[in-house]
Amino acid sequence: MSYNNLILEQNNGIATITINRPSKLNALNKETIQELHNAFASCDEDAATQVIIITGSGEKAFVAGADISEFANFDIEQGGQLAAKGQELLFDFIENLGTPVIAAVNGFALGGGLELAMSCHFRVASDTAKMGLPEVSLGVIPGYGGTQRLPQLIGKGRAMEMIMTAGMIDANQAMRYGLVNHVQNQDDLIPFCEKIAIKIMRNSSVAISASIRAINAGFEDGVNGYEAEVNEFGSCFGTEDFKEGTTAFLEKRKADFPGK
Ligand code: COA
Repeated sequence: MSYNNLILEQNNGIATITINRPSKLNALNKETIQELHNAFASCDEDAATQVIIITGSGEKAFVAGADISEFANFDIEQGGQLAAKGQELLFDFIENLGTPVIAAVNGFALGGGLELAMSCHFRVASDTAKMGLPEVSLGVIPGYGGTQRLPQLIGKGRAMEMIMTAGMIDANQAMRYGLVNHVQNQDDLIPFCEKIAIKIMRNSSVAISASIRAINAGFEDGVNGYEAEVNEFGSCFGTEDFKEGTTAFLEKRKADFPGK
């Protein structure tokens, strides 16, 4: 598959997706959102890909938001559709992907850019990164899940303040808030994410996917997360990975999981 706005590299179980529109600070236009959906879907289907890292090209931006030039003339219906389609195609899709996704936030992550990072399973930032949801400065609100995921990640009061002020926080403040898990200098960002990916790949990919489903269940309306956990836990007992993991432990050797 070829992409106009992305670079997809696959090495030793790790797929790195780089959003590549540096002249527009990697802003998410319609085509890029569709291409990201296709790239995530193909990596998820690919048995050899165990972890996905997403980042932005250039040193300045992860993603500076949704492409403002594309929606500036939209009416009410088109605005609603923009949010609904984007959430379904990309943001909810990534959150519920069975393959772990790490956001390597290498610069500005604003609006749809921060929403993209927040839909990933966790985030690592460069010390140059700046994050914010500036939508109210444009007369609109975050529409790709930002009003939901930001309070989940950093708490309601902090999210209210960030959204109302349209302000940006730097990487260290993002770490204090729990929005990113680690801060690295720019050159070390991708190697550091790869080191985490290697740790993840030592474990059962089947159990990791089940963990993602159970964790996400707790944030779903009308779903009992504890019940989802019981069901996922039970299902693990029927997998080859469970046999291998427990047998390896009892035989005092490292587990050799077959992958997905
Ligand atoms: N949508 C469309 N184009 C964007 C964009 C976006 N969200 N963010 C940046 N760009 C474009 C700029 O229009 C400019 O294009 P041009 O060279 O053709 O004029 C190019 O990217 C570089 O951006 P510029 O603003 O010149 O860089 P800067 O260093 O002065 O400022 C930012 C960087 C990130 C502070 C600034 O670009 C910005 O505020 N972007 C919008 C952020 C935003 O509101 N996002 C939420 C959208 S819902």
